[in-house]
Amino acid sequence: MQLPDAVRRSIQSRAEAVGFASLARATLLLSDAYRDHRPQDLAPIPAEHRIAAYLVTRMPATYAAAFHVLGEVRRRLGDRLPASVLDVGAGTGAASLAARAHFPDARLTMLERDAGFARAAEEWLPKAARLTGDLARMKELPPHDLVIAAYSIGEMDPAQLWRLWDTTRIALVLIEPGTPRAFTALAAMRTALLQRGAQMVAPCPASGPCPIESPDWCHFAARVERTSLHRRLKAADLNYEDEKFSYIAVARHAVELPQARIIRRPEHNPGRIQITQCTGTGIETRQVTRRDPVAFRKARHAGWGDEGVE
Ligand SMILES: C[S@@+](CC[C@H](N)C(=O)[O-])C[C@H]1O[C@@H](n2cnc3c(N)ncnc32)[C@H](O)[C@@H]1O
Repeated sequence: MQLPDAVRRSIQSRAEAVGFASLARATLLLSDAYRDHRPQDLAPIPAEHRIAAYLVTRMPATYAAAFHVLGEVRRRLGDRLPASVLDVGAGTGAASLAARAHFPDARLTMLERDAGFARAAEEWLPKAARLTGDLARMKELPPHDLVIAAYSIGEMDPAQLWRLWDTTRIALVLIEPGTPRAFTALAAMRTALLQRGAQMVAPCPASGPCPIESPDWCHFAARVERTSLHRRLKAADLNYEDEKFSYIAVARHAVELPQARIIRRPEHNPGRIQITQCTGTGIETRQVTRRDPVAFRKARHAGWGDEGVE
């Protein structure tokens, strides 16, 4: 998974304009700030350095996560495709780009308080509408069919969740880092939304209480190709990384849910594939063998995050 070519080329030029040493420093501060949940720590870094560091080291991964999630949302929504998308905390536009890929006819609106991020996003999404400012200070939020908050709801006051839901006409999608902390927060939001009448879309195969118990947590992974600059900045050998993310998608109307969801990377052994899946009421680990050719064929092609195997 990679960002669209034109976006990658533009990111490369921005990074070159900043220079490697400044970019490396900003990258270090950026990962410390996100790890410690202190985005405000980024304020002293020059905006262009901070933005370039985000574009090179984070945006490809957040795009990959949003691309995965919105693909699943599109499958579940069936014919009920959104005609308008609101990307809340849009940053540099990763989720909007993913939304454009899956819902090419939808009108996009990016809501972002950081003017530098918003300007970068405008470069590759010139036709998208922009709401620049802090959501908490915006009196009105226009209704949209699909509302997405990718890697941003964790930075917001929890009360903003209800504003996002109230503005949703078809579906609301919340994506967060795939950490136990973010999953716990998302699980609580899932419960609260379902109590308010929201219908489950993904990843859960049912609307009952989540069967996952601490210290386990529900998360998925999207493989992202690293550019050579990204590898140098992270002093990494591998030319890819696995972005871990957790998410929930809920809708105003009921959608068809899968029987189960694969919640670990399937383990392939000779003649046997081990699948760990959430059935909605519990977590089951299945050994799928050639003795069940239909299930085996499905399991061979199944990935982490896909529909489960019956
Ligand atoms: C980690 S970045 C994620 C950006 C983008 N969604 C992505 O997936 O790459 C979080 C973004 O949310 C924005 N944000 C957080 N709280 C906000 C608020 N109350 N109003 C507007 N934007 C907000 C931040 O400025 C930041 O750009």
